[in-house]
Amino acid sequence: MTTYLPPDALDRPFDPKDFNPEVLQGQYQEITNLLLASHCGIKAIKTKLEILSDEMQLQDRRNPIEYIRSRIKSFDSIVGKLQRRGLPVTVEAARRELFDIAGVRVICAFVDDIYRIANMLAAQNDVKLLIVKDYIRNPKPSGYRSYHMIVEVPVYFSNHSEQVRVEVQIRTIAMDFWATLEHQLNYKRDVDIDGEIAKKLRSCADSIANTDREMQVIRDMVDQLDSSADAVNPMKVMAHVANIVGASGIDQMGRSK
Ligand code: GTP
Ligand code: MG
Repeated sequence: MTTYLPPDALDRPFDPKDFNPEVLQGQYQEITNLLLASHCGIKAIKTKLEILSDEMQLQDRRNPIEYIRSRIKSFDSIVGKLQRRGLPVTVEAARRELFDIAGVRVICAFVDDIYRIANMLAAQNDVKLLIVKDYIRNPKPSGYRSYHMIVEVPVYFSNHSEQVRVEVQIRTIAMDFWATLEHQLNYKRDVDIDGEIAKKLRSCADSIANTDREMQVIRDMVDQLDSSADAVNPMKVMAHVANIVGASGIDQMGRSK
């Protein structure tokens, strides 16, 4: 079997020099194809999420998606994960076994936005839902909360199409705040799950989850006020639409005779 690495390379930290350049050369096209497919899978999912966000902004007059980040798993992370799982370090194994080469992270305002977006995305005809991990209803022992989906979307190239897998992580601003800091503090460290540090981190995660719940209650109260005071003002509605579709859209509408 072709592998990129000499056998003893697995006992050392990752070093690009370990790669056999001839094998890599032969696989260059395959690696490029994998990265291109991942890049395009991310684009496809991001566009779907942006469309949902635009529509929800128009309907609800607020933004359910604060922002979207994405990343393609780095080459050394791909190699490291294959090695940890005892798999051959090959493009085929990466394609077959790794579900998170393409990753999209969606940061929402409120917890219920997470489920709305997840359900709308999964309901689309060309989105195939492969795996769901609901770490909000079932937080990880670390305290980590987030909604994870592995989905498959079609990507159309010049002479073929491909089903591309994308890991979508959906979380609130508060969950993201915790996950980012916890990642910085614990990164690559084996933290004792019953130790003092882990307990403190878990307790922070729990109070953050409480705050998320409280914020949603407040949001519902504000929505109630809004709906009772809501006499539709056409100028305000137009300004809101302009904000979402861009000023040029409203200019044209405004000037149309
Ligand atoms: P990975 O090998 O890390 O991808 O894990 P996995 O394939 O078993 O999937 P899992 O659902 O456990 O985690 C996927 C991703 O969720 C991770 O890569 C992180 O981005 C995030 N994650 C999971 N657990 C934690 C955690 O305890 N803390 C933080 N900060 N992030 C986490
Ligand atoms: Mg991962």
